[in-house]
Amino acid sequence: MYFNWKDKTNIDELKVICNLIKNSEIIIFPTETVYGIGANAFDSAAVGKIFLAKGRQSDNPLIVHLSDKSKIEEVAEDVTEVEQKLIDAFMPGPFTIILKKKPVIPDIVTAGLDTVAIRIPSNIIARGIITYAGVPIAAPSANISGKPSGTNIEDIRKELEGRVSAIIDGGKTEIGLESTVVRVIDGVPVILRPGKITPEEIRAVVGTVRIDDKAFKRLNDDETPLSPGMKYRHYAPTTKCKLVYADNEAEQVFQMKKLVKEYKGNVVVLGFDEHEEKIVVSQGRYIRIGSKENLEEIAQNIYTALRKADTIKADIILIEGIKKYGIGVAIMNRLLRTCEYDYIEVLDCD
Ligand code: TXA
Ligand code: MG
Repeated sequence: MYFNWKDKTNIDELKVICNLIKNSEIIIFPTETVYGIGANAFDSAAVGKIFLAKGRQSDNPLIVHLSDKSKIEEVAEDVTEVEQKLIDAFMPGPFTIILKKKPVIPDIVTAGLDTVAIRIPSNIIARGIITYAGVPIAAPSANISGKPSGTNIEDIRKELEGRVSAIIDGGKTEIGLESTVVRVIDGVPVILRPGKITPEEIRAVVGTVRIDDKAFKRLNDDETPLSPGMKYRHYAPTTKCKLVYADNEAEQVFQMKKLVKEYKGNVVVLGFDEHEEKIVVSQGRYIRIGSKENLEEIAQNIYTALRKADTIKADIILIEGIKKYGIGVAIMNRLLRTCEYDYIEVLDCD
């Protein structure tokens, strides 16, 4: 079933969706970050269908989505003062907090961990569904495991149609990158997955913040990340990708051109709007990711651009990198993993 709620939520269709959720079915719905594949979080059989639909490893836990803050105590306990401050500052919104789990949440949701990831989306459609379904909704991003998260319905239908009972179209997602995932450890908020809520914003609320150093590093086989999802290849098209960043713009363009030449033009470039005339490739092989001055726009476009790049036959996808600041931290975290850490970085020494 396909429902178009781009302009308005249809109440009769909302009832259909809630019935599907009650009947252990799974649905695709929009949030402000990326689309999710949702099921009743109390229903192990339904949650099992999500893992199947995505081809997701069972040791990778899901986020539990709630309609409002008053519901947190139903699924989590022992919330500390620092955790409460973060909840009050950033929820609802693109923010996920790891809390101590209550037994009502089945093990399949949390991959057997004693913690649960909680998020309250701000997107109206997402909140409407969670509110009317009357249960928390467990939902990972809408994509086959390893692929970029779904941020528009066209991409999602191509990848997941037939694997879920209903797809709700809420238009292109507002942010385009997954939520910031935070766990408070010894009173310090640790960012396990960077996102729209930046380290700077978190520090402003509780005075301190740390980014899990594994967010920018390749993990060794024997390392266990705090966030299980971080160990898998992710956000990646089938074609190999390479990321290029120089803190001097002319140098970045130079490095990109050098690579285009090295690969004899058999490349796809994911580049800034401003560089299209400078990094010359043949027709259709330059995919604009947005203005270099507008990181929000780049975040919105990046997954759609990666999927588009994958439809073009090429030896490599070359991607322009950005400064790791603000939402740039999250974009670079995703792109490094897209490229499996195949990364050229040129920094000015002075
Ligand atoms: O924006 C988002 O967060 C989207 C939308 C749909 O809400 N969801 C999303 O879910 O990105 P997913 O499953 O693709 O990513 C969830 C991440 C994974 O890296 C997972 O390992 C981590 O959160 N996670 C979930 N539960 C956890 C827990 N108890 N402890 C540590 N990490 C956890
Ligand atoms: Mg995901």
